[in-house]
Amino acid sequence: MAQNTDMAHQGAEPRGPGTGERKRSTPRARTRQGTRGQWIWMISLGIVMTAFLAIMVPPYLTLDPSQSGVVLNEGFSLHYPMVIVHVAFGTVAQLSLFLQVWPWLRRHHPAVHRWNGRVYVFGGVLPSGLSSLVLVPFHPTAGTVGVGVAAVLWLATTAVGHVRARQRRFAEHRRWMIYSFAIVTGLNFWGLAIVMAGQVVSPSLDIDYLFEAARWFGWMLNLFIAQWWLERTARRPLAGVTGTDRA
Ligand code: HEM
Repeated sequence: MAQNTDMAHQGAEPRGPGTGERKRSTPRARTRQGTRGQWIWMISLGIVMTAFLAIMVPPYLTLDPSQSGVVLNEGFSLHYPMVIVHVAFGTVAQLSLFLQVWPWLRRHHPAVHRWNGRVYVFGGVLPSGLSSLVLVPFHPTAGTVGVGVAAVLWLATTAVGHVRARQRRFAEHRRWMIYSFAIVTGLNFWGLAIVMAGQVVSPSLDIDYLFEAARWFGWMLNLFIAQWWLERTARRPLAGVTGTDRA
């Protein structure tokens, strides 16, 4: 994935006393701000991703169906194995995604970015996304349509992003991979946050309302934010990319 890395505020600093001139921030200062912004971004993302994995994955490490958070359908003997496949490859997707959106890694180790991108697409999204499509019809609670739409969009945006990278259309590659990122993080992180917060704030609320909100709201909101970010950064150079194409 190629993504802009300059997340720093680009504005000029206040006027210097008695100069009458706007003091512009130097390239070096902007680089420092950008680097700080990237660290804040990566640390925040790392905390959220680790929290999600630490809360959701351990019950499945026991391979004990009685520990499953997913209500298993007795008429589908492969239900639990499918959940395990989904969670295992979903973990691969999430870990590789973290590395993919790390600007420093893209800039300094483009070969690692390329290989890790393949891991994300073929070792994460493809098996995890396809297995989630198998799970959706057995999803017993509210939000089935929302999670089904998210699954299709996750697979589709990732596939388009991968093809664009193969075509060396890097600006479009960036655009579609940001959508892929937005969908999966929106579904998982906002989803978990909505269900947990809803239960704390209003314990008597029907859980189905929370599940319905969790399966739609997060990834849709993230797509809006992603679109805003793409428009805002449309004119910036792409990190580690020599091509000049624009999405
Ligand atoms: C857009 C991408 C994804 C979609 C559409 C999706 C969809 C699903 C579906 C349909 C289920 C079954 C839920 C049920 O029937 O109650 C599920 C469960 C689960 N998924 Fe995903 N998933 C996605 C990404 C991921 C990723 C990246 C991870 C990372 C580990 C992950 C971890 C889990 C876990 C841990 C469960 C079990 C939930 C529980 O114990 O309550 N999913 N997912």
